[in-house]
Amino acid sequence: MIDSFIHAALAQQALSHQGRAAARAVVLGDGSRALVRPLHAGDAHLVADVFDQLSDESRWMQFLAAKKELSAAELRYLTDIDHHDHEALAALDHAAGRGAGVARFIRHTADPRAAELSVTVVDAWQGRGLGTELLTQLSARARQEGVERFTAVASADNVAVARLLRAVRARVVSHEYDTVEYEIDLAHARARALASAREPERLSPSGR
Ligand SMILES: CC(C)(COP(=O)(O)OP(=O)(O)OC[C@H]1O[C@@H](n2cnc3c(N)ncnc32)[C@H](O)[C@@H]1OP(=O)(O)O)[C@@H](O)C(=O)NCCC(=O)NCCS
Repeated sequence: MIDSFIHAALAQQALSHQGRAAARAVVLGDGSRALVRPLHAGDAHLVADVFDQLSDESRWMQFLAAKKELSAAELRYLTDIDHHDHEALAALDHAAGRGAGVARFIRHTADPRAAELSVTVVDAWQGRGLGTELLTQLSARARQEGVERFTAVASADNVAVARLLRAVRARVVSHEYDTVEYEIDLAHARARALASAREPERLSPSGR
C-alpha cells in the first residue's frame, strides 16, 4: 500500500514536464515520514484532501474567512501550476496515503521578482516541522525561478505562521487591525532548515 503510494507519486513526478524538483522523502524530528513532491494538474483530489483535514480555525487562518469547501473553479486554479510563476509542493503522509500539507508561491504580476507565499499543514501534522520543511524546499524552488522575495498576509493572531516566518527572518511590512503583511528576502532567508527534521533522503525509483 505504502510502496504503491510512493510509486504513484514518483511516477507522476517522472511525467512532470518540468521535473526540476524531485520527490523527496523527509523524516521529521518526531520520526514521522512524509514525501514532498511538486503538485500537478491532476492533484485536485490531493488539494481537496488537505482542505478536508483542516480545522475551522486552520481554514480561517489560511483564507482569512470562514470556508466550508473549495469550489471546482478554486481547485482548478490551485492545480493550474506552471512551475515557474506558480509553483506548489505537496507533502504526502506515508502511512495514511493522504495529503499532509501544501506550500505554494504565485508570482506577482506587477513585480515578477516577488511572489505571494502560502503554506498549509493539516492539523494532525502541525508542530512537527513540516511547515518549515515545505517552506525551505519552496524557497529553493523560488530562487531557481528568479523569485527574490515572498510576501504573505496572515491573521494578526496567527502565532504559528509568525514563528514559521521569523525563522526565515521575515519583516513585517504592514500591520492592520487584524492582519499582518510579511516580506521574506530569499537571498538572506535561512530557514532553520530541517530544524526538527533530519536531512531528506532522495528516494530511489523503488521507493526504498
Ligand atoms: C502555519 C503552519 C503552516 C505551520 O506549519 P507547522 O508544520 O505547524 O510548522 P512547524 O512545525 O514547522 O513549526 C514552525 C513554527 O511554528 C510553531 N507552531 C506550530 N504550530 C503552532 C501553534 N499551533 N501555536 C504556536 N506555534 C506553533 C512551531 O513551534 C515553530 O516555531 P518554533 O520553531 O519557534 O518552535 C500551520 O500551522 C498551518 O497550516 N496553519 C493553518 C494555515 C495557515 O495559517 N497558513 C499560513 C498562511 S500563509
